[in-house]
Amino acid sequence: MSAIVIRELQGADMRALFGIFKEVLEPGDIFPYPLDTTFLKFSEIWLAEKSFSYVGLLDGVICGAYYVKPQWPGRGSHVATATYMVGTAARGKGIGLALAEHSIDAARGRGYRAMQFNLVISTNKAAVKLWQKIGFQIIGTVPGGFEHAELGFVDTYLMYRFL
Ligand SMILES: CC(C)(COP(=O)(O)OP(=O)(O)OC[C@H]1O[C@@H](n2cnc3c(N)ncnc32)[C@H](O)[C@@H]1OP(=O)(O)O)[C@@H](O)C(=O)NCCC(=O)NCCS
Repeated sequence: MSAIVIRELQGADMRALFGIFKEVLEPGDIFPYPLDTTFLKFSEIWLAEKSFSYVGLLDGVICGAYYVKPQWPGRGSHVATATYMVGTAARGKGIGLALAEHSIDAARGRGYRAMQFNLVISTNKAAVKLWQKIGFQIIGTVPGGFEHAELGFVDTYLMYRFL
């Protein structure tokens, strides 16, 4: 049986994370960033105003990661937002769920009161199902909020749960 380990991000992990990021980015169906996003830009995205970030390892290999940061500074900072990704070859093995549950516990432990996802692509069935499974609700829809590489303009969801 494969062992999932979740540990805090280390600087040396960033190249592996960039590889996973590119896998998610390239089909043009999930992340909004430009296809030519560089390692430097990715590092800025992943680390900017980060509150905390953890990686998920399967049998010792980094297969996924998440970061959590405040939605807003100051009076909006009790609401967290987060991003998750799992490499294509490692999907369906429980890493996404383990990362998600870890992030919720960790955010609650750091005093956040709620978590909000701002850009869940409506066609991203795996993500929508995962978030609903762990208690997130769709609280809003942005009509045509994402230009999907194959489907054109598709709706995006705002998803929310109290912690
Ligand atoms: C969404 C994502 C993080 C899920 O990670 P994962 O490791 O494959 O997910 P898990 O194996 O832990 O599955 C957990 C649950 O997610 C849902 N899920 C995962 N893959 C699914 C799929 N292909 N179709 C439908 N539901 C799926 C299921 O509810 C599943 O639980 P179940 O098997 O008990 O029904 C992963 O697909 C991913 O990184 N996708 C690209 C990036 C992304 O979408 N990030 C989130 C942006 S909002």
